[in-house]
Amino acid sequence: MHYFLANEEATLALGKQLAEACPDSLCIIHLEGELGAGKTTLTRGFLRAMGHQGNVKSPTYTLVEHYQLGNRAVFHFDLYRLSDAGELEFLGLDDYFRDNAICLLEWAQRGSEYLPEPDLLVQLNYHEHARNAVIEAKSVLGEQICGKLHK
Ligand SMILES: Nc1ncnc2c1ncn2[C@@H]1O[C@H](COP(=O)(O)OP(=O)(O)OP(=O)(O)O)[C@@H](O)[C@H]1O
Ligand SMILES: [Mg+2]
Repeated sequence: MHYFLANEEATLALGKQLAEACPDSLCIIHLEGELGAGKTTLTRGFLRAMGHQGNVKSPTYTLVEHYQLGNRAVFHFDLYRLSDAGELEFLGLDDYFRDNAICLLEWAQRGSEYLPEPDLLVQLNYHEHARNAVIEAKSVLGEQICGKLHK
């Protein structure tokens, strides 16, 4: 699935669409793209659509931020500062990738050897002052989610 995201609102709206398409089971979404490509913005749109009202800070130093939204746990990872993928062992990953949690990960490639495979890969790219997004299914669940997305 390809999207042209003309402005920040469009990135927020794509995050909302993804939130609405996530089924009630463990969903793992990797967000890729250069610094400033819009990964946290998309996460903000996602969290708002799930009912989160506060702001969304980048968990750059804490690596992961937990949002409890109704019966859904959403974990927002930002692994940009991860110096050694082995650090993830101390984070207790099993506590995050469980039940019907939703895990959104920025810079997952920095810890890929310790992380489970994603269901969806969202790639954000600069296009002049706007962005392009490509969403790719990486599992059967990911295909189900993609099937619910619209243009
Ligand atoms: N479609 C868009 N068009 C133009 N600007 C956008 C778009 N989407 C997001 N932005 C802007 O891009 C900026 C950076 O966004 P954001 O913080 O989400 O990037 P990021 O990918 O999380 O970066 P980092 O890797 O540093 O965490 C924000 O100012 C945001 O408003
Ligand atoms: Mg970010």
